[in-house]
Amino acid sequence: MTDPTGLSLTALRLSYTRAELRRADLHPDPLEQFRGWLQEAIDAGLREPYALSLGTADGAGRPGVRTVLLRGADERGLTFYTNYESHKGRDLAANPQAEGLFHWAEHERQVRAYGPVTRVPDAESDAYFHARPRESQLAAHVSDPQSAPIRDRAAIDATFAALHARFPEGRVIPRPAFWGGYRMQVQEWEFWQGRESRLHDRFRYVPDGGGWRVDRLMP
Ligand SMILES: Cc1cc2nc3c(=O)[nH]c(=O)nc-3n(C[C@H](O)[C@H](O)[C@H](O)COP(=O)(O)O)c2cc1C
Repeated sequence: MTDPTGLSLTALRLSYTRAELRRADLHPDPLEQFRGWLQEAIDAGLREPYALSLGTADGAGRPGVRTVLLRGADERGLTFYTNYESHKGRDLAANPQAEGLFHWAEHERQVRAYGPVTRVPDAESDAYFHARPRESQLAAHVSDPQSAPIRDRAAIDATFAALHARFPEGRVIPRPAFWGGYRMQVQEWEFWQGRESRLHDRFRYVPDGGGWRVDRLMP
């Protein structure tokens, strides 16, 4: 069947046969389970497996989603960096919770993580900011405020050039106050492994008396 665009989307389908996920395979700690899968994706050379789709919503419930890069995954949560005055920043100010999604297509896996989101301490944002390449540091200054309409590309390039001149090599570029990290303290995880005939394996972890309860979900 061909749709009006000629894309023949309905004919494009894959069967997921690469692996199965059994309860016995799961680490009791979902953070370790996640880190294990992410490490497998990194070791396999997948492109940017640490990129996640981040879903937020504003105070009225309007959803928004975009990609960000995961910059930390430990007991404190999942960390990413952005502009606090961006669309997502405004969403998180009004409604400080988010859901993140990793899709590793070659591994036929996805991981979902939900939780409240807080800003990381300034000192930590400073340390990460200064560890980035200088060009990225300057770009953070250019994008003020991120997600706002801008006249044209030339306006962006001109600001970047002016900042280059203002901060020659060797001069410390201060972290802009509007740029920094967020951390999602994960309260729900789901691990999804694609299976044949769309009978996928899904396991959800939810907090339970200091540990985690694991439920298998219908595919
Ligand atoms: C692969 C990839 C990685 C990205 N990483 C980040 C990131 O770490 N931080 C960020 O602010 N934007 C990142 N972006 C850009 C965002 O997707 C988005 O366009 C931008 O943050 C503005 O989003 P907002 O208007 O929803 O706030 C990335 C985009 C892609 C495609």
